[in-house]
Amino acid sequence: MELFLKFPKILAFFLIALLSAQLIAKEYTYSKMGPPRKLTPQQAEVAEANYKKYCVLCHGEDRQGHVNDHAPSLRSKSLFESGIPHAVLRPLSYGREGTPMAGYLDEVGGPLTLEETWNLTYWLFEKSGAERVRLSTNPVIGDVTKGELVYQKECATCHGKNGEGVTAPALGNQSALAHNTDEVIRYAIRHGRQGTPMKAYAEILTEQEIDNVTAFLRSKASGWEMKKTVLRRLPTPDEYVVNPDGPHPNFKLQEDLYVSAEDLNTALQAKSKIVLLDTRVPSVWQTAHIEGSIPLPYYADLDETVKDLPKDVQIVAYCSCPRAAADHVVRQLRNRGFDNTAVLYEGIFGWMNLGYPVSRREAVE
Ligand code: HEC
Ligand code: HEC
Repeated sequence: MELFLKFPKILAFFLIALLSAQLIAKEYTYSKMGPPRKLTPQQAEVAEANYKKYCVLCHGEDRQGHVNDHAPSLRSKSLFESGIPHAVLRPLSYGREGTPMAGYLDEVGGPLTLEETWNLTYWLFEKSGAERVRLSTNPVIGDVTKGELVYQKECATCHGKNGEGVTAPALGNQSALAHNTDEVIRYAIRHGRQGTPMKAYAEILTEQEIDNVTAFLRSKASGWEMKKTVLRRLPTPDEYVVNPDGPHPNFKLQEDLYVSAEDLNTALQAKSKIVLLDTRVPSVWQTAHIEGSIPLPYYADLDETVKDLPKDVQIVAYCSCPRAAADHVVRQLRNRGFDNTAVLYEGIFGWMNLGYPVSRREAVE
């Protein structure tokens, strides 16, 4: 004490240093990073065409998001500021397991090469007009129990009680938690996503509350690894019809289009003759599908692929979003004279939730 009285300047300096350290810590001045490599006009053209072919169905013509299911906006600045490898390239490449977002990289059974996934990522980045921000990779420390209280009060209505996603992304999703660092999550909470229902919580919650809720979300991660996969063999045309000698299923369709999971399951149990089309990206067909289904992704060139489909057999298409991709394919099939066509109303997630069987890929070492 005496020492401090003798040296008030030291004390003042000490206090100011402490205070300003606090202030800097609370201000979150993020430093900017330079832009990534710029696309050539040809690369940009291909990337734009790929966006139209593969992404518009759910994320929309203008990258606005929320066209089908709860596909997020792909133009909010805060998404692209927070690190494109984490926030964009990885979901695009590997998908978010258990959500309608499939993996598009060829390595996991998708249609795009590594270079195409990078170019599409850069194209989206350039379109967003965002500047990259340098985010720390350190863990965010917070009180998980307090964080859960904030979460249930402020976030659960949109993101789900268990982070399963209701009208907003599944924050408890293991692939998302594996791909996003703590700081990416905190940045999204603090800054929100411009032009979407996700508000900037830096103006609503205290920094401590934001850290707590970030720590709570992190505590939901139970580990996820990209499994080494041996891709399954795709069915050949002579395998397209399930139960080729069975009876016609005689479905009563809702709105002249939809068959219920219950009716489809009953028909399959009765060994009815059906063609099942999985209209998702084949990477997710690889992971799990209704036994006997053939992958016919929503972006397939139908003139090429439908020539081997029979017109006199009941065709049922399904997807996970929960119907958008299947609707899209069936509409085109009907334009080509396939009248015996239907869409699985509940989608494959609904099918699985009802406990009906799927064929899953074995984990391979
Ligand atoms: C069948 C619908 C569908 C299609 C087609 C689709 N997505 Fe998605 N995408 C989603 C959904 C749903 C999510 C959110 C999943 C979650 O986390 O709950 C998502 C999430 C994402 C994310 C993560 C964004 C964020 O805010 O976390 C990116 C990036 C993304 N998609 C890019 C793409 C790109 C690029 C394409 C085209 C190659 C594409 N998606 C095609 C449905 C789709
Ligand atoms: C009114 C509904 C709503 C509420 C309440 C809400 N969010 Fe969101 N949140 C969204 C939507 C919608 C998105 C996706 C936005 C987009 O299109 O990019 C999102 C995105 C996010 C993301 C980015 C996810 C990703 O995959 O990129 C995080 C993290 C997040 N929210 C956390 C929270 C937290 C934590 C709270 C509570 C403090 C919260 N949100 C409250 C609707 C909401």
